[in-house]
Amino acid sequence: LDVRVFVDKETASKEAASAIAQLIKTKNSKGEKTVLGLATGSTPLQLYAELIRLHKEEGLSFKNVITFNLDEYYPMSPQSEHSYVHFMKENLFNHIDIEMENVNIPDGTISKEEVNDYCASYEKKISEAGGIDLQLLGIGRTGHIGFNEPDSDWNTLTRIVTLDPLTRKDAAKGFGGIDNVPTEAITMGVGSILKSKKIIMMAWGEGKASIVNEMINGIVTDQVPATYLQLHQNVAVYLDREASTAL
Ligand code: F6R
Repeated sequence: LDVRVFVDKETASKEAASAIAQLIKTKNSKGEKTVLGLATGSTPLQLYAELIRLHKEEGLSFKNVITFNLDEYYPMSPQSEHSYVHFMKENLFNHIDIEMENVNIPDGTISKEEVNDYCASYEKKISEAGGIDLQLLGIGRTGHIGFNEPDSDWNTLTRIVTLDPLTRKDAAKGFGGIDNVPTEAITMGVGSILKSKKIIMMAWGEGKASIVNEMINGIVTDQVPATYLQLHQNVAVYLDREASTAL
């Protein structure tokens, strides 16, 4: 893993945003679309803010960008303020020139009967778009990437999963109490993530230091799904100082 430590998350996020901008421009110059894998949560907020700035102030266009989000709570209405659809619109899509038909986020309203077929179709849509060029990731304190909690194997694909109690606890504040946090989610699998051509994993703050150390230096195990990133050839890990203190 290519580990880069920055003075703070703002600097790291600007660097990551500039790598994305460069990729979009290179792809554009070849007449190709860029397929981005996106994450939610607090980690990518500064990165999305910088992408918005690059769009507004430096003319970066997302007209030829296709996106796939990693996950969505289940069940979840896209209108809910807790939905990742809402999060992505508020923090990115409403402020750039992306075509909403090129945006893909797992559908938290699909019925239990249809969910397996739906997940297979999400996976198929990613391959039909040519696969993910660049996947953004954060890491949960359980060692999850996407919502691939402990016990998620390296070859898992998009599916419905049960959230770890620690993940629900970490989400409780936003939901006004742990009881309001959904118990399930639809997530791209570890295998779906590992198929991406390039991955940028970001982690900020001392709360992530211990799990970041396990991800980078621990043995590869389904008990810490983020360790599977060690098996990928093109992963950049962007850390702020605090997140790097246990390395
Ligand atoms: C979000 C996701 C999660 C988060 C992780 C870290 O789409 O897939 O894996 O990246 O839970 O969350 P934050 O960034 O809020 O610390």
